Amino acid sequence: MATIQEKIDLLKKKQEKVKLGGGAKRIEKQHGNGKLTARERIEKLFDPGSFVELDQFVTHRCVNFGMDKKETPGEGVVTGYGTVDGRLVYAFAQDFTVEGGSLGEMHAAKIVKVQKLAMKMGAPLIGVNDSGGARIQEAVDALSGYGKIFLQNTLASGVIPQISVIMGPCAGGAVYSPALTDFIFMVKNTSQMFITGPQVIKSVTAEEVTAEALGGAMTHNSTSGVAHFAAENDDDCIKQIRYLLSFLPSNNLEDAPARETGDSPNRMDEGLNSLLPDNSNQPYNMKDVIKSIVDNGEFYEVHAHFAQNIITGFARFDGQTVGIIANQPAVMAGCLDINASDKSARFIRFCDAFNIPLLNLVDVPGFLPGTGQEYGGIIRHGAKMLYAYSEATVPKITVITRKAYGGSYLAMCSQDLGADQVMAWPSSEIAVMGPAGAANIIFRGDPDVQAKTAKYIEEFATPYKAAERGFVDMVIEPKETRPRIIAALNMLATKRENRPAKKHGNIPL
Ligand code: HXC
Repeated sequence: MATIQEKIDLLKKKQEKVKLGGGAKRIEKQHGNGKLTARERIEKLFDPGSFVELDQFVTHRCVNFGMDKKETPGEGVVTGYGTVDGRLVYAFAQDFTVEGGSLGEMHAAKIVKVQKLAMKMGAPLIGVNDSGGARIQEAVDALSGYGKIFLQNTLASGVIPQISVIMGPCAGGAVYSPALTDFIFMVKNTSQMFITGPQVIKSVTAEEVTAEALGGAMTHNSTSGVAHFAAENDDDCIKQIRYLLSFLPSNNLEDAPARETGDSPNRMDEGLNSLLPDNSNQPYNMKDVIKSIVDNGEFYEVHAHFAQNIITGFARFDGQTVGIIANQPAVMAGCLDINASDKSARFIRFCDAFNIPLLNLVDVPGFLPGTGQEYGGIIRHGAKMLYAYSEATVPKITVITRKAYGGSYLAMCSQDLGADQVMAWPSSEIAVMGPAGAANIIFRGDPDVQAKTAKYIEEFATPYKAAERGFVDMVIEPKETRPRIIAALNMLATKRENRPAKKHGNIPL
C-alpha cells in the first residue's frame, strides 16, 4: 500500500506533467513563434503568486480517431482565478501546445465553469484565445461546447466586464465568443481572427489574401472594428489588459475604483482659451482638449485605430473613471458616419451598464452625406447613438466646444436626450445646420445675401440661442472646463433615474 508521502509525490508528479502542457518541444515552438505559453500569460496577467488553477486534471473522454490513446494535459486550457491590482479576476487561457488548444467537450466545460464562477462572484473574466478551433475528433460535442460558452457570454453581458484576448489563431465559429464580449485585444503578427481562412476563401471566391491581411490585429483594429486594442507582443498586451481593468468596476453593481491621481480638481488651463482656430472651418485636435482636462493628461483610448472621426476612451476626473466620447474635427471634420455611430453606441452602452459617467465633447458638423452611407444604413446605425444616449442613466455631461448642428447635435447627447449638464464654450455654434447651408436656403435669391448671412452667423452660430432656451446650462470659458466637469460629476454622484420595466429594448442593429 502506498504511503502518504508516496501519494503526495504522485500528486506532484501529476501536477508537473500538467504544467508541461504539450511538452518541451511544443513550448519551444510556441516561443519560436513569438508567443508566450498559456501558463506564462496567466502568470504575467495576475498579481505575483495570486493565481489559483482549477480543474488541472480534467481530461477529454473522446474515443474517436485515436483520441482514446491521447492524453491532453490540462485539456488544452488553463483556468482559474487570482487578483489583478488586488481585485478578484477570473481567466482562462487556451494552451496551444496541447492539441493546438483545440476545444472539445471538457475543454469547454472548464471555460464554462469559470464563466459561471465569475458571474456568481461579480468579477471580470479574461479569456485568452490561442486555438485551432473546434477539436475535430470531438465533432458535435465540440460545437456544443462553443454553444454553452456563447450562452454564458451573453448572460454575463452587462453583469461583469468580459475581455477577450487573441494571442494566436481564432477561427471559424470560435470568433463569436470574443465577439460577444466587451473588449477584444489582438497581438500584432501573432494573432488572427476570421470566419473562414485564406485557403477556404481561395477555393470559394478565388480571392488570395494572407492570414494577417485577412484577420490580423491591424485589420480588425482599423478596418473591421472587431478588435478594440492592438498590442506589440504578449507582454505589451498583458500590461494593457491590467491597465484597462484599472478603469473598470468588477461588476454592474459596483462603481469603478477611485484612484488618488494628485491632479487638482480646480486646475485650469489657459491654453484652452486659445486652442481653437478663429476660423471655425479649420481643424484642431480634440485629443489636446481631452489631455488638458483629464487627470494628469492620462487617457486610454478604446478603438484608437477605428472610425477616428470619433474618439472613445477612459480617463479620470478627480480620481473617478469617466467614459469620453468626443468628435474629432481633425478627421473628416468630425462628421458622424456608420462606423463612428457603431463605435460610440457600443462604448456608451458599456459605460452605462457599468456605472461609468459619460462625458461628451461635441464639435460635429453633421452626418456624412453620400450614397455609400445611405445604402449602408446610416439611418439605422446613427439611430444606435440616439438610442444608446437616451437609454443611458449614468451621469451624462455634454460640453460643446464648437459645432453642434442638426441631428448630430442631438446624436451627441443634447439635453433632450438626457444630458444632465450641458456646457458650451463661447465658440459654440448650435444650429440646425452650418451658416453657409442655412443662408443658401433662407436667403436664396436675396440681393442682400452676404449681409444677411453675416447677421445669421452673428446671431445663430453661437451658444446663446440655445442658452436662452435653457438647452445649454452654462456658457463657460474653455480654461474652466475641468473644474466645471468635476463640479458636475460631484453634483451627479447620487443620480438615480428609473425607466419603465421591460424585458429589454430593441436597439436598432
Ligand atoms: C484537433 C488540432 C486542431 C483542431 C490543430 N490541432 N487544430 N487538433 N482539432 N481543430 C492540432 C494539430 O493536429 C497539431 O497536433 C497541433 O494541434 C498543432 O497544430 P499545427 O497544425 O501543427 O500548428 P500550426 O502549423 O501552427 O497551425 C495552426 C492552425 C492549424 C492554423 C490552427 O492547426 C489548423 O489549420 N488547424 C485546423 C483549424 C480548423 O479548421 N479548425 C476547425 C475550425 S471550425 P500535433 O499532434 O501534430 O502537435 C470551428 C467551428 C467552431 O472551429 C464552431 C463554433 C460554433
